[in-house]
Amino acid sequence: MEIIRTVADLDSITGSLSEQGRTIGLVPTMGALHAGHLSLVSRARKDNDIVVVSVFVNPTQFNNPDDLRTYPRTEAADCALLEQAGVDYAFIPEVSEIYPEPDTRVFDLGPVAEVMEGAMRPGHFNGVAQIVSKLFAWSHPTRAYFGEKDFQQIAVIRRMAELEGFTHEIVACPICREDDGLALSSRNVRLSPEQRAIAPAIARTLAASTDWAKTHTVEQTKRFVTETVNSFPHLKVEYYEIVDGATMQPIEQWSDSAEPVGCITVYCGDVRLIDNIRYNIA
Ligand code: PAF
Repeated sequence: MEIIRTVADLDSITGSLSEQGRTIGLVPTMGALHAGHLSLVSRARKDNDIVVVSVFVNPTQFNNPDDLRTYPRTEAADCALLEQAGVDYAFIPEVSEIYPEPDTRVFDLGPVAEVMEGAMRPGHFNGVAQIVSKLFAWSHPTRAYFGEKDFQQIAVIRRMAELEGFTHEIVACPICREDDGLALSSRNVRLSPEQRAIAPAIARTLAASTDWAKTHTVEQTKRFVTETVNSFPHLKVEYYEIVDGATMQPIEQWSDSAEPVGCITVYCGDVRLIDNIRYNIA
């Protein structure tokens, strides 16, 4: 595996591979890699000739300075995992390489970016659009891979790609979970042992709600999830929305969407966890 530190190298290496007709799979990450990231890498490995993984904690998508400061950074361990996973290139730049000047672009991301994470974390999705648009431009990807844990993020990235004229495939990959159901996240390492033991209640409640939903309204299902999760010590729901899986707009009745998805954000102590679940209401 080759480590690339500069934009110029990334652009020229992937540009010439692409000209030679090699397919390139891009996996953008913020490092602190876990099995969830590795599942994206292995899918990219299967689908493409060349796999590029970026490892960059993107400051413009953090609206909370403490979150940016405490975000785990584990470059040596990340490189070992990527090497083992058969990655061809790891792009690991400094902030000054990505943002020699402040990025002042404001993307017209529309309604998909206005709700949930967009409402709770002002500027977050614009920052995601900034970094991902740069990575797309410099990596010449045939396909780019994102995890469905950040369900809304994928819709926002699709919108950004449409605005910017990127035509490569954007591949959404299923959430990876621990054996006890907790969605894998780089933030999980910040949970205390007691919090870690309780956190799977989020996924368990979401799973239980798929049965509950069959005999209850959208509103009742939202209340069930929120009240159940809040009944556990350490857990405090920030929001639970049931939205249409394509538009991200909240639905009022099950019949409003062919693809309802429940999206939750929960504070476990001061660690912000997110998860989601699909509903199949026949
Ligand atoms: O999902 C993430 O880890 C980040 O938001 C991404 C897509 C790598 C952009 O920094």
